[in-house]
Amino acid sequence: MTTTETAAPGGLAQLEARAAAELSPEALGYIRAGAGSRDTTRANAAAFRRWRVKPRVGRRPDRVDLSTTILGTRMPAPVLFAPVGVQTLAHPDGDLASARAAAQLGLTYVHSTQGAYAMEDVAAANGDGSRWYQLYWPTDDELTVSFLRRAAAAGYTHLVITLDTTLLGWRPLDLDIGYSPFLEDKGIANYTSDPVFRRKYMPAPAEVSPLATGVQFARVFQNPGLSWDRLPLIRDNWDGPILLKGIQSPRDARIAVRQGIDGIVVSNHGGRQVDGAIAALDALPPIARAVDGAVPVLFDSGIRTGRDAFTALALGADAVLVGRPYLYGLALDGQRGTRTVMRSLVEELRDEVRHARHRTHRTLSRSSLTRAR
Ligand code: FNR
Repeated sequence: MTTTETAAPGGLAQLEARAAAELSPEALGYIRAGAGSRDTTRANAAAFRRWRVKPRVGRRPDRVDLSTTILGTRMPAPVLFAPVGVQTLAHPDGDLASARAAAQLGLTYVHSTQGAYAMEDVAAANGDGSRWYQLYWPTDDELTVSFLRRAAAAGYTHLVITLDTTLLGWRPLDLDIGYSPFLEDKGIANYTSDPVFRRKYMPAPAEVSPLATGVQFARVFQNPGLSWDRLPLIRDNWDGPILLKGIQSPRDARIAVRQGIDGIVVSNHGGRQVDGAIAALDALPPIARAVDGAVPVLFDSGIRTGRDAFTALALGADAVLVGRPYLYGLALDGQRGTRTVMRSLVEELRDEVRHARHRTHRTLSRSSLTRAR
């Protein structure tokens, strides 16, 4: 195993290596995995190293205000928990622990369709915290509507539709060890608890086998025929804001805005889907320019430190999501570990903003950075 691509000292390089000691090879492999040679995952990290923060001298602000409001959700900092499935790979408490940690920090938690716990249980753990729901859009409309109704009833206010995973990524790290969490019947309770899924897709107990479970998973969640003309189904069944996650091209961003989407998440799924895809950070500035403030632009893929978050915000993101780092925190120390990782990242960001002599991240811009040679 090599962790050299995550070169930020004291950041993920250390965190990942420490978490590796706590994780089974299968779990570590699944979390680290990227598409193909992991080239895109490495490119995500490398893209951040090409930007440097321009520190300023003179009077620094005493207080830095990182608070923001995204589509009506108040946030103490522009940092969210990215939707991550099967978190029980990292810790038995999985998403329950992460949702509790998010509530303690006041940060928004985005619950995955492939969550290890049912969305109602995660909502209870999140209490009066802020939560959004991430949808993997099933091939079955009745199931889609069931997910949306459950999410609204459980207090999820925003819908994040992930569009880059209509086919699962080709991830040799998992293939080499023949592992997929979705071939097991555990760690996927969010959708296997759904009454429509149970009625239509759960194999009868006598027929449960890794193969039967895998076939049902593929039937429901591999949805390569998805296209823009399917959006009315969501609009008819969801009252809150809708964001699209997995946008990597300014063209798609423009279409999303034209279609009346409320926000987008520039992301390449942490490099897990398309081998050789553009580094997510490199996709951000042209997309931010194309959107030109029409809707909020969120960003993820490769953020490991407060400095990385600073860079993404300066290049046009309104807020950032963080994936693997909080999972490593979860592996190391459950709820407390996740909370520590996310709090550290927020405080590092605050420090960077202060050193750049801004009172708030909202005034950061391209001129806060310089291109590294
Ligand atoms: C993910 N991601 C993800 N995204 C999503 O929309 N639904 C999901 O269920 C999952 N599941 C998932 C599992 C694991 C183990 C990982 C590592 C990632 C992608 C996630 O939301 C986010 O886009 C990336 O993790 C961001 O990249 P970093 O922060 O991990 O580099």
